[in-house]
Amino acid sequence: MEKILVIGSAGQIGSELVVSLRKIYGNENVVASDLRTDEIGKLSANGPYEILDITNRADLEQVVDKYGINAIINMAAILSAVGEKFPMKAWDVNMNGLINVLEVSRDRKIERVLVPSSIAAFGPETPKDNTPQETILRPTTMYGVTKVAGELLCNYFVEKLDVDVRGLRYPGIISNETLPGGGTTDYAVEIYYEAIKNKKYTCFVSSDTRLPMMYMPDCLKATIDLFQADFGKLKHHSDFNVGAMSFSVEELAASIKKYIPEFEIDYKPDYRQMIAESWPRSVDDSLARKEWGWEPEFDLDAMTRDMLKVVGEKHEKGLI
Ligand code: NAD
Ligand code: SER
Repeated sequence: MEKILVIGSAGQIGSELVVSLRKIYGNENVVASDLRTDEIGKLSANGPYEILDITNRADLEQVVDKYGINAIINMAAILSAVGEKFPMKAWDVNMNGLINVLEVSRDRKIERVLVPSSIAAFGPETPKDNTPQETILRPTTMYGVTKVAGELLCNYFVEKLDVDVRGLRYPGIISNETLPGGGTTDYAVEIYYEAIKNKKYTCFVSSDTRLPMMYMPDCLKATIDLFQADFGKLKHHSDFNVGAMSFSVEELAASIKKYIPEFEIDYKPDYRQMIAESWPRSVDDSLARKEWGWEPEFDLDAMTRDMLKVVGEKHEKGLI
């Protein structure tokens, strides 16, 4: 019987992952946790919720013991844009929090741990197109530094300390349930909300900025597929590239204009432009496809139709 702890579960990905995991494993078997108290209503409505700071090892142990946890998914992190404003905070949550998860997992004999990485693990010297999984990893953001160090740490726990840890490098994730938490790719979510609400958007990166992106249903599928993969069949562990689509802001705006012809966009690039420029334009995810059968479903147009429908319904109901 799985008893899964999701840390950082009030965030953009965790909030939807908990719902999907509870459908598969049962409400009582998926313990949601986060620092935040404002999302408790949703996450505690049909299953356990614990307020938990990942940097506090004793509290983490207490939650693991209380529920007999045997699998951990760590979604707690400080993302790229916020991380550049508060680099030491990013280090603390992303590294000290991660080592707590790994050490508690080793100590309590947790059977499976999943830790996401990011395209932020790459840097300006990395080949930009169809970026291989194994390539130059010299990020220039604190977030990226913690993602590379985190991947190495996870691989160390696999190879030297016999802990089952898996991880995947998400591209920018686009969704309509919980707003993103302060990353560079947030523009690709904001644009849909602003298109519905105001028919115009001022983007904080330039029109030709192209990044790898993924729609939330594919993000959930990738996460759960890797979580459920046979560990014995994996040759890689903590650093799988996963791709779905890649587009410039101009192309994203054009896909919205197909459905909202009056939509207008202008550009005021800020400090996030340099971050975006340090990341790949597209990734080669052939190892994820080969080792655990990764295959995305959504392309840009399919995502745009769905985003506009769901965000439009929220707007009609006065929820946004
Ligand atoms: P998010 O910012 O939306 O959510 C992170 C959650 O962690 C928040 O709810 C926050 O309250 C919580 N948190 C922060 N500090 C904490 C602490 N000390 N203890 C416990 N919880 C804490 O992030 P997300 O987008 O859901 O990202 C989840 C994971 O996926 C992260 O590892 C992130 O780096 C990775 N990722 C996300 C994206 C994306 O586009 N969303 C892309 C690449 C990688
Ligand atoms: N979406 C994330 C960010 O922009 C990528 O890891 O920070």
